[in-house]
Amino acid sequence: MTPVISATGLWTPDEMISNEELVASFNAWSDKWNAAHAADIDAGTVAPKPHSNVEFIEKASGIKSRYVVNKSGVIDPDIMRPVIAERPNDQISIMAEIAVEAARQALDRAGRRPQEVDAVLCAASNMQRAYPAMAVEIQAALGIEGFAFDMNVACSSATFGIQTAADFVRSGSARSVLMVNPEICSGHLNFTDRDSHFIFGDVATAVLIEAEDVAAPDHWKITGTSLKTVFSNNIRNNFGFLNRTAPEGVGASDKLFVQEGRKVFREVVPMVAAMINSELERLGLVSGDLRRMWLHQANAGMNRLIAAKVLGRDATPDESPTVLDTYANTSSAGSIIAFHKHSDDFVAGDRGLICSFGAGYSAGTVFVEKAA
Ligand code: COA
Repeated sequence: MTPVISATGLWTPDEMISNEELVASFNAWSDKWNAAHAADIDAGTVAPKPHSNVEFIEKASGIKSRYVVNKSGVIDPDIMRPVIAERPNDQISIMAEIAVEAARQALDRAGRRPQEVDAVLCAASNMQRAYPAMAVEIQAALGIEGFAFDMNVACSSATFGIQTAADFVRSGSARSVLMVNPEICSGHLNFTDRDSHFIFGDVATAVLIEAEDVAAPDHWKITGTSLKTVFSNNIRNNFGFLNRTAPEGVGASDKLFVQEGRKVFREVVPMVAAMINSELERLGLVSGDLRRMWLHQANAGMNRLIAAKVLGRDATPDESPTVLDTYANTSSAGSIIAFHKHSDDFVAGDRGLICSFGAGYSAGTVFVEKAA
């Protein structure tokens, strides 16, 4: 049975932080830190914390602002992390809550009742607890029967989730699979690290993957999927139940997101471009057959280069749209936000590519064709 994307959903937090606001709080924090460590800095035993810079951030990443679940804590120089109240076990978890919001939108857009869904995959770069799986809580909140589980392939989680769901449909083990990506990246970002404090934002996306014969006519055929992983320590987060040093934001180091950004840039761009090109060949397509690429949203420069290596020329904003300016990097959700926001103009027969890449390293491609 051909798997299709029936609909997508997007939940965006109410609160937003501009580069200006983020840099002001970082600089206030670094001034305080330098004052507190003045003697050591004067003695030359510790290096002062330099200021961050709005122009650098926009030029290096293409990011102008980001949405977050809590703004006040992140921009308070005495806190420098989101303040998210712990909830009792009888209340829905925040990750489940935002995933349910995105999921309901996808189900509404597809005209699908939760009772008709067979499985839920929660695919995200960080889960807020070990178990029960976030996916099972989301399944219960929506009133879905069948089964649910979590999966984590960092920024590539959504394309890995789509292929997993598509494989269930292809094998006949499920006919309707809800795949959600709640990403509270602000919770694992070190807001006191100048090199990366600007990178991430929060969001939730949902994709409904179904068998073609049960989907509404206005769907997207999934014409080919591929996944790849190659181990690298260049993007890493060591938080976990075996390393329980609390990531308190200030002073936190490798229990939060850390990366070698330059190496990531250099190593991931050729890997992803080669993967897309070999998939195009395997599927009997050429790059000119693609009306649009919805690429992972980590860095505008990376996307420019990957698109150019695929097309043999620079892509237009219409061919490779960005949401980085407003959403920043939202890990697994980025390419799905781009698809959700920039796909209404497709007509029957138009082809496109959803592509993600990130920690692992990992990369995934999902080729789609508009059915009607
Ligand atoms: N404000 C001002 N200056 C800053 C800064 C900031 N916030 N952060 C870094 N700098 C400085 C650096 O200290 C460095 O100074 P130096 O030349 O004096 O040493 C200079 O700016 C360049 O830093 P660098 O880290 O080399 O910048 P870059 O051009 O490589 O851009 C990234 C940094 C992270 C934006 C870029 O490497 C990138 O996007 N890589 C891929 C990241 C990615 O996709 N990760 C996946 C996450 S899922």
